[in-house]
Amino acid sequence: MTSVAPRTTSAPTVEKVGGRIGAVISGVRLGGGLDEATVAAIRSALLEHKVVFFRDQQHLDPESHEEFGRLLGEPVAHPTVPSADGRYTLSIDKEHGGRANQWHTDVTFVPAYPAFSILRAEVIPPYGGNTLWANTATAYAGLPEPLRILADNLRGVHTNNFDYAAVRPELTERDVERQAAVFAAVTFRTEHPVVRVHPETGERTLVLGNFVQRLSGLGARDSQAVVGILQSHIERPENTVRWQWRTGDVAIWDNRATQHYGVDDSDEHPRVLRRITIDGDVPVGVDGRRSVLLTPRSVPAPAHGGASGESTDGTPAEV
Ligand SMILES: [Fe+2]
Repeated sequence: MTSVAPRTTSAPTVEKVGGRIGAVISGVRLGGGLDEATVAAIRSALLEHKVVFFRDQQHLDPESHEEFGRLLGEPVAHPTVPSADGRYTLSIDKEHGGRANQWHTDVTFVPAYPAFSILRAEVIPPYGGNTLWANTATAYAGLPEPLRILADNLRGVHTNNFDYAAVRPELTERDVERQAAVFAAVTFRTEHPVVRVHPETGERTLVLGNFVQRLSGLGARDSQAVVGILQSHIERPENTVRWQWRTGDVAIWDNRATQHYGVDDSDEHPRVLRRITIDGDVPVGVDGRRSVLLTPRSVPAPAHGGASGESTDGTPAEV
């Protein structure tokens, strides 16, 4: 008779970074072989703190990054941007236009936008290049009641195709051309509730950010004014956390309860991060109405990259 020694694992440590959002998890080596209890602890911390950070995960490569991602759900490719590895990894490389210095939630121009994003730092500049996250659940909860009632009853149209040159004058002509050729190769328009009920926590979260084109039933000027009021509550410094990256760091965020912003202040120093996104579900508003894809008629199969290792030369400004 053989006896099997019980597998001992020490529970990961979770320490808050900000009062309303963000925690550092230590004592975990990320990968596909984590035990169920550790994965459950990570998921629980992620749902509570909205973004969690891990230091010293230099051992990860595209394969183990993806394998770890599968412990949280099904990886999904970007709807338009070819992957960096022919599978699911999106390269966010400043040298190739990969800047994200606008507040946004990833891929909200499609109905079932990702539940989680997992970002791994490969090349980090000597200064700058931080990322900020904002908690869209506490932003909603902190709204004055009349604004909560207004938001509960609004729906917004999100698109990946807008006038980048007008919105982002700092983009070069080449960046603007890339946006049209790669990122907006297919124009998506999706109507989401402005307030969705989180499928795992039951919290109400605001669904806004840079892909919002207008609010349903409102003209351009009213849309801009109302979105501006709600967005200002999301971006309040007390509602955010700011992360100073080191090489080997991993950040995972609940994309259904956050917005984020990549600060573009590292001058000409390179900055390269790799992202895997995990499939989400179609948002449901407080009235039970689901998000609706307006165009095209269905979300086409994602355009995966070509041969493995083939890098895209066109990571867009917002991803
Ligand atoms: Fe992003």
